[in-house]
Amino acid sequence: MNAIEVNDVHKSFGELHVLRGIELTIPRGECVILLGANGSGKSTLIRCLNGLARPDAGAVRINGELLTGAGVRRLRRLRRQIGVVFQHFNLVPNVSALQNVLYGALGRQRGGLLRTLPAFAPNELRERAMACLDRVGMADYAASDCRHLSGGQQQRVAIARTLLQNPEVLIADEPVASLDPRAGRAVMELLIEVVRERGMTVLCSLHQLELASEYGDRVVGMKAGRIELDGARQSIGRASMSGLYEGVVRVDHAPSHAGVAAAAESA
Ligand SMILES: Nc1ncnc2c1ncn2[C@@H]1O[C@H](COP(=O)(O)OP(=O)(O)O)[C@@H](O)[C@H]1O
Ligand SMILES: [Mg+2]
Repeated sequence: MNAIEVNDVHKSFGELHVLRGIELTIPRGECVILLGANGSGKSTLIRCLNGLARPDAGAVRINGELLTGAGVRRLRRLRRQIGVVFQHFNLVPNVSALQNVLYGALGRQRGGLLRTLPAFAPNELRERAMACLDRVGMADYAASDCRHLSGGQQQRVAIARTLLQNPEVLIADEPVASLDPRAGRAVMELLIEVVRERGMTVLCSLHQLELASEYGDRVVGMKAGRIELDGARQSIGRASMSGLYEGVVRVDHAPSHAGVAAAAESA
């Protein structure tokens, strides 16, 4: 069974053809690193996978179910199966680490933020949230206001929030791009460890080649809106990964098919 299936997905913003026929299949339990230079289309692909953006054409399936074209209810159900970790953590400011973790499980229910106040959360849930914070090494900071945490600590809290949600699929969009190299490495190691423990399926984008060659089972490389590389991490050489950074790498520097055809006609 495949956790994620993407068939011939296209996405444009106005004239800009960002996703140019993406094909990607990720079996359950596999950990895939999505590597590509800035502007190659990684975030747009990720947004199409977690339901935040709609492809113009093609199909996305999560655990065999169509995400593209899903109505509100199916979309909500599918999105519960997908945990998301963002570059900028996306924590709720001015509240505690524990509240942020609880928000992952309670925030979307009736009662909203009020119900995420630790005092209002059921005991059993509060204990699970504390266990998730403990797993990421942040139990001592449960009561700390997120504003006072370092970037690495905030990303750990965001990972704990995802653990409480307990999704089958985890999608991370450059989770370490805002961290210094040391904190970034530590967070990557933690992320890979916890997803392995739980047998989660992972798609994690990175723009740093050095990190991509160290983590995950498989590397999928994007360049100018297309997938240019796809293989087991151990079998992909540094040279082919470097190729993702050579020549035209950004979609806004690459003519789309329409552009190429028009240029050929006028020549
Ligand atoms: N909502 C949007 N509206 C217009 N252009 C966008 C939008 N989102 C992304 N783009 C453009 O799409 C291209 C690819 O961006 P993105 O998917 O963010 O790539 P990456 O994550 O690899 O850096 C960039 O040129 C970016 O400016
Ligand atoms: Mg991006």
